Amino acid sequence: MPFATPSPFAAEALELGDHTDHMAKEIEEQPAVVAEILDRIAGRAVDGSMWRGLGLASFERVAVVACGTSLNAGQVIATALRGLGGVPTDTVVASEADQAVLTPGTLVVAISQSGETADVLRALDRFADRYQVLALTNNLHSSLARRADAVLDCHAGPEIGVAATKTFTAQVVVGVSAMISALVASGRIDRSRALALVGDMQRLPGLLAGAAEASLDRIPLLVSSVRDASGFLFLGRGAGLPFAAEGALKLKELSYRWAEAYPAGELKHGPLALVTDGTPRGRRRQRRAQDPGERRRGPCPRRLRHHHRWCRRRRTRTRTRRRPAALATDRRDRPGHVALGGRSSPWSPLQMLARELALQLGCDVDKPRNLAKSVTVE
Ligand code: F6R
Repeated sequence: MPFATPSPFAAEALELGDHTDHMAKEIEEQPAVVAEILDRIAGRAVDGSMWRGLGLASFERVAVVACGTSLNAGQVIATALRGLGGVPTDTVVASEADQAVLTPGTLVVAISQSGETADVLRALDRFADRYQVLALTNNLHSSLARRADAVLDCHAGPEIGVAATKTFTAQVVVGVSAMISALVASGRIDRSRALALVGDMQRLPGLLAGAAEASLDRIPLLVSSVRDASGFLFLGRGAGLPFAAEGALKLKELSYRWAEAYPAGELKHGPLALVTDGTPRGRRRQRRAQDPGERRRGPCPRRLRHHHRWCRRRRTRTRTRRRPAALATDRRDRPGHVALGGRSSPWSPLQMLARELALQLGCDVDKPRNLAKSVTVE
């Protein structure tokens, strides 16, 4: 890092500029945030020095501990670690940490943009004596950073909007890079594999920017056609599930409409009862967007296509003929690639969808009701 840089908290960094709200600005900043993070750490992810620099012992297992959006980012990181290195993972909802039983050799990865989330700090009361803790936070001066054995800075810059957007993205990129680095350092993958994986991630700024650009005109049209829906189901499979969960979380917190994420295979085990005449139904490309982790046969994954048919049989409406192209996955997707650049679709259109719905419903997208940027109570 250069010796002197402008403070990210300088007045101009916090100004809205041409944007109507901080959320729009922060969504738009994501490609630059990712590019800057990868400039800093790509080389160190590939040669294993990012991990070695943390000074932590090797691990047999990883437990991700977090809340809300940070938990979804943790799920993306855990999915990558399992898929790339075969490392077993646990996901611990911080407020339920009392129920968790971890095994020796587990690395606890505690994730929090604010670093002050009471549930996460309380979970550390339970884990910190017995397990190594790696913090992943956007606030190096936070309580979480002080209490962890090692800290990774998310480098997202200041996030003013209450709904996490660019911090999610930064957590995912830094966390996955750190895990790639750990896999190299432990000999689980070799450098050439790491180079290919990081190369995939380096496509992400372009994918995010392209997706946002393509969605700009289309999301408002899509939203005006589904604005009256009382609830939304986000279906996903495999590595797409955490993104479906994040899409649903954004939508409910900003628009105050019910939204739930389900593994697509669960649809027929209950949620299908909610699907009825007139339920808006996404078309092919939207479905694909939440299914980045599955091997494909044909234009959309077989099992997800199958679940889409379940909805069609219930005479749901296809509300838009104009597809939000930005929700499409990349055609060069290959099995075995990191669940970011290589296999997953950019997620910014899901953030834009939630923001646009909130705006059309007259909600304050920067300050959703009842929510705070830093939840310091249990
Ligand atoms: C969602 C959101 C919350 C936070 C959660 C954890 O947009 O902002 O779900 O992600 O309260 O906050 P941090 O990351 O500060 O621990």
